[in-house]
Amino acid sequence: MSSGRRPLVAGNWKMHKTVAEARGFCEALAGMVDPAAPVDVAVCPPFTALQASAEALAGTAIAVYAQNVHEAASGAHTGEVSAAMLLDVGADGALVGHSERRAAGDTDAQVAARVRAGIDAGLIVVMCCGESLDTRRAGETEAWITRQVREGLAQATAADIDRLVIAYEPIWAIGTGETATPDQAQEACAIVRAVAGGVVDGQQLRVLYGGSVNPGNAAELMACPDVDGALVGGASLDPESFAAIVAAAA
Ligand code: PGA
Repeated sequence: MSSGRRPLVAGNWKMHKTVAEARGFCEALAGMVDPAAPVDVAVCPPFTALQASAEALAGTAIAVYAQNVHEAASGAHTGEVSAAMLLDVGADGALVGHSERRAAGDTDAQVAARVRAGIDAGLIVVMCCGESLDTRRAGETEAWITRQVREGLAQATAADIDRLVIAYEPIWAIGTGETATPDQAQEACAIVRAVAGGVVDGQQLRVLYGGSVNPGNAAELMACPDVDGALVGGASLDPESFAAIVAAAA
C-alpha cells in the first residue's frame, strides 16, 4: 500500500444471502467499521439484495457494488442487468470480469465494453484479472495478466482513473484456501499497475489482491507496496471477519 492511494476492501458475496440476510449483515457491518478509518469499503451482494443492502447502508460510508454489469443500456438481453438499473437500486459500483464470470463465458471484449459502460454511467468499476494454475506453472503469468489488462482497458482512457480499480485474483487462490504469497501478490499487482499505466496514471490506480484473503493474512498482503486493498470472497460473508480485514487495511 502506498501512502498516496486510499485502500479499498470489497466483499464479493457471490451467490449468497437472501434479502433478510443481506440487511442483517449490512446493519452489523455498519456498527463494526470505523467511519473515520482511511479505507474505502464496499459489499457486492447478488442483484436481488442490492437495493436492501443500499438501503441498510444509507448514511454510512460503505458502498454497494454489483457483481457484474451488462454493456448495453437496455434491450433483448435476457438475464442481464444494465448500469442504469444498478444505479436505480442504489449501487455505487460493479465488479467486471470476475474469473467465475469469465468461466461462464464473459469475453475480454465484453469486459472492455462493461468497463466502459459502467464508468460512463457513473459506477466505480473493479475489473478482475488473474491466471490459472496451469498458466502459472507454464511460466506465463506475466503474459496472461498483461493481455487481460490491455484487453480489459481497450476502451478506457486516462480520464477514467477516479472510477477504475483493478483486482488481481489468481484463479488457483480463489476459494481454495491457498493464498498467493505476499511476494507473488506484489509481483503480479506491480505488473497490473505497469500495464494499466499505459492507459491511466499507474501511480494513482488502485490495484487489489483477491484469493483466499482472511483476517489472518490480510495485513501482510496489503502491506505490499503495490497492493492497495483486497477483494474478499468467503471471508466477507461474516461481518466480524470482513470488518477485521477492513481494520487490517486501515
Ligand atoms: P475467496 O474469493 O476470497 O473466497 O478466495 C475471492 C473472489 O473470488 O473474489
